Amino acid sequence: MRFKDQVAIVTGAAKGIGRSIALALIDEGAKVVPVDVDCEALRSLRAEVEKRGEQILPVACDIEKSPDVKAMVDQVLGAFGRIDLLVNNAGIIRRGTIETVSEEDWDRVIAVNLKGTFNCCKAVVEPMKRQRSGKIVNVSSIAGKLGDITSAPGYGSSKAGADALMKTLARQLAPSGIRVNAVAPHAIETEMSAQWPDERKREVIAGIPLGRLGRPEDVAAAVLFLASDDASFITGEILDVNGGTFMD
Ligand SMILES: NC(=O)c1ccc[n+]([C@@H]2O[C@H](COP(=O)([O-])OP(=O)(O)OC[C@H]3O[C@@H](n4cnc5c(N)ncnc54)[C@H](O)[C@@H]3O)[C@@H](O)[C@H]2O)c1
Repeated sequence: MRFKDQVAIVTGAAKGIGRSIALALIDEGAKVVPVDVDCEALRSLRAEVEKRGEQILPVACDIEKSPDVKAMVDQVLGAFGRIDLLVNNAGIIRRGTIETVSEEDWDRVIAVNLKGTFNCCKAVVEPMKRQRSGKIVNVSSIAGKLGDITSAPGYGSSKAGADALMKTLARQLAPSGIRVNAVAPHAIETEMSAQWPDERKREVIAGIPLGRLGRPEDVAAAVLFLASDDASFITGEILDVNGGTFMD
């Protein structure tokens, strides 16, 4: 069990990739705090976990709002006294072009994907510094590296911004024993990719050397690797989880 008794916050954990990350961490012995705005989906996750005989501490929290994030982190510290891992997974996407995207959609995507990530990092740094250990893993996107045709411009911009934030924090926090990394998935089978038209899905698969969409479990495995002691000499890295679509 690579995460026995480690306290792990996973944002956007009620569904999709975040849910897989949360379940994988539970399987590896972590005390998991799933954080999400979708209370009903959080309840369903809790029921699933309890059916397995395990416990979680689900917290309803909008990562856009720094006071809510701070309250969430205080709640976790009150319950467990420490935070070993933060997975910044919560994210939203909007479709469109520079002509069609609204200013509101731009602001919202940046607010959740970039500022929300900043809010969560800022809130956990003090306890992690006190512990002189901690791991942060962001769920970024191939769109942060390549841009994207179908998502609105704010999406790739938010992910590229979060990648730069990740590298900055990796440099600033390394002396305190805190590692900061990211995974960059492409085309994972979740609600987000389910919105794609069939033709787009076929085109995407045709462009993936490994010939299939990714699974949430593929992303979870990469996140757990970066968060584990197997990656103890890795910080500031963006690990591609893209079936070979983009190799850098
Ligand atoms: N699905 C893909 O193909 C794909 C590809 C590359 C990157 N990603 C990234 O992976 C992450 C997860 O995506 P997914 O496909 O599982 O999406 P999803 O929509 O299935 O899940 C996202 C979760 O985040 C939660 N969330 C949204 N806004 C929030 C907020 N303000 N505060 C707290 N929680 C919030 C949602 O309620 C949801 O449970 C995202 O950051 C996304 O950008 C996904």
